[in-house]
Amino acid sequence: MGSVPFFPDQASTVAPQVDAIYFALILLSALFAVPVALLIVYFGVRYRRGSQASRASGSAHGGTLKIELAWTVFPALLALGMFTWAATVYYRIERPPAGAVEVYVVGQQWMWKVQHPEGQREINQLHVPVGRPIKLLMTSQDVIHSFYIAAFRVKQDVLPGRYTTIWFQATQAGDYAINCAEYCGTDHAMMGGTVVVMEPAQYEAWLSGGNTAAGPQSPETMAAAGQQLFTSLGCSGCHRMDGSGPGPSLVGIYGKTVHLQGGATAVADEGYIRNSILLPQSQIVAGYGPIMPSFQGQVSEEQILQLIAYIKSLGSSLPAPASLGQPNTGAPAGPSAVASPSAPAVGPTPGAQAAP
Ligand code: CUA
Repeated sequence: MGSVPFFPDQASTVAPQVDAIYFALILLSALFAVPVALLIVYFGVRYRRGSQASRASGSAHGGTLKIELAWTVFPALLALGMFTWAATVYYRIERPPAGAVEVYVVGQQWMWKVQHPEGQREINQLHVPVGRPIKLLMTSQDVIHSFYIAAFRVKQDVLPGRYTTIWFQATQAGDYAINCAEYCGTDHAMMGGTVVVMEPAQYEAWLSGGNTAAGPQSPETMAAAGQQLFTSLGCSGCHRMDGSGPGPSLVGIYGKTVHLQGGATAVADEGYIRNSILLPQSQIVAGYGPIMPSFQGQVSEEQILQLIAYIKSLGSSLPAPASLGQPNTGAPAGPSAVASPSAPAVGPTPGAQAAP
């Protein structure tokens, strides 16, 4: 909004929608607050001590019911209207569209570490293309942070031990500030960075390594890095591709509903995979023994994300990354199963999984 830094830029698709609600709420509040304030002054003067104004009480019959109904129903409708409007926009902000570009973020005292699936890594910088939806999968390796891009009007807490997501679509190229919006220790105020929104061609060049100081080397993709970890940590010994090992095969596991010992089910999303690596005893797949050791302390949050990227690359029963961030309801036939046109109509049935 011009050169006066009174209001942040509107640089994403949701920014004008969020601002419209913001200004509507201010207007609505003023609509009620200003008459009350003016009346306080007016009555204060009119009925001051010693004034000649009549103190007789007004007539109490007729009309009061109508007035009371009016001042109840009218504000109630206004409030419900605001709720509906805001809920609609909130819903839009919370649901990443299918086919969004995925970027992985780890918050840490006091920096933001970013990994792109193509292998580019950066700190306190986030390069994205203009005009495409970007989804961030985020976690923290220490305390609670909050990822905030004011110009995009998006903000999301980043929590240790959990994945949260936000998405945005930038509408104009340029540099915009990233801030941490949750007090996280001494250097909280310094924990920031820059989103660099680039034209698509520039972005492609940057992704392929042409734009880095390190030179023209093409970085290893996250999935490839994850595959290396998968081998070096010994995962591949048990989780064999063909399922002949002591652990279940992970091919096509991502997004699938997994049946656990004791009859519970879980959707194999990022949170489930992370949990299986760090707390393998907490969710044991039906038909398998509790033999997997925990990898707590052996893998960093970034490495876990690489392992997840590798497991995703083994195939997915999700149509697109669109159903991420939904809570695990454990419902075996969730919307993702219905929405997947490529999923076989007769999938593996719960009872059909015999012990290996
Ligand atoms: Cu991180 Cu405040």
